[in-house]
Amino acid sequence: MIRETVHVPLGDRSYDVRIGEDLIATAAEEIRALLPRPRVAVLTDETVAGAHLDALGAGLGDIEMVSLALTPGEATKSWSALEKTVEWMLAEKIERRDVMIALGGGVIGDLGGFASAILRRGIRYVQIPTSLLAQVDSSVGGKTAINSPAGKNLIGAFHQPSLVLADIGVLETLTPRDFLAGYGEVVKYGLLGDAVFFDWLETNGPALAKGDRNLRAHAVKRSVEMKAEIVARDETEQGDRALLNLGHTFCHALEAATGYSDRLLHGEGVAIGCALAFELSARLGLCSQEDPSRVRAHLKSMGMKTDLSDIPGDLPNAETLVDLMGQDKKVIDGQLRFIMARGIGEAFVTSDVPRDAVVTLLKDALAGRG
Ligand code: GLY
Repeated sequence: MIRETVHVPLGDRSYDVRIGEDLIATAAEEIRALLPRPRVAVLTDETVAGAHLDALGAGLGDIEMVSLALTPGEATKSWSALEKTVEWMLAEKIERRDVMIALGGGVIGDLGGFASAILRRGIRYVQIPTSLLAQVDSSVGGKTAINSPAGKNLIGAFHQPSLVLADIGVLETLTPRDFLAGYGEVVKYGLLGDAVFFDWLETNGPALAKGDRNLRAHAVKRSVEMKAEIVARDETEQGDRALLNLGHTFCHALEAATGYSDRLLHGEGVAIGCALAFELSARLGLCSQEDPSRVRAHLKSMGMKTDLSDIPGDLPNAETLVDLMGQDKKVIDGQLRFIMARGIGEAFVTSDVPRDAVVTLLKDALAGRG
């Protein structure tokens, strides 16, 4: 049976990310040591509940489980869903020493983490991420949030989980589109800091997408190792943690432009954003022209969205897209910060990107020229 552990070293906020098979089926073994009494509150959504809640209940054995299943989708990262979650935990008499489990993708993880951060001034929580995106990115590192009409993830807290259980078996219940969207975040890790991992993905990506569990476990583990290392260096994103946002400045503008709808999933926007970030890096003379071509070739070979023309429907013009980047949390003193690259695996954070270069890049991309 595949079982791996990545430790996230954060002093008294340290925790393990367990990656492997049957972690939900054996949840009691994994979680029991955290519990002062055999009772947990599980937050999930209706889709995930249908697929995995009974299995989690069985895996928890004699640990009593109370659960709340919310409406699936990004709209659930809202004040009203946060209120519902917190009031539900209070009604269930979840105490300060109790543990909440967030069972779901990024939406449930972010909302559940934030609810845990504020309930009785903070309780512990366990992430059981059920999407590839959540396993490799959002369940690790303690960023929790809901959305505001002014932008995504603008209301939240840094609150680290006490344990993450990434059960790779659950990835088999994802649609190919959702799986590939999560793969966009996996590719991001290779591009930002590990050229050898990117080579490995070029070779193994297709078999991994088809379902090979060993390859999937390796990709999740390597991604989580890289995230753990960066988060340990810069937990609250004063500097290097922004590297994890490679492709995200473009992605956030595209998500806003498409109304956070089904037209563009977050991971799809990250993949397109990574391709744009490498194209911009090449145009600014920071990396070779072969690098963006290689990035796009890999994304295309995986059948992923790569270009703006892959997004269905109309997009706003380049100036509007750049304006939409203005709510990005990486903005300091009104200055946008970009993650650029000196090559594959060599990303860095900079404020030194001329607005004109971004506008021209997007004009060309909108016209299908790059
Ligand atoms: N998803 C980016 C981060 O956790 O910093």
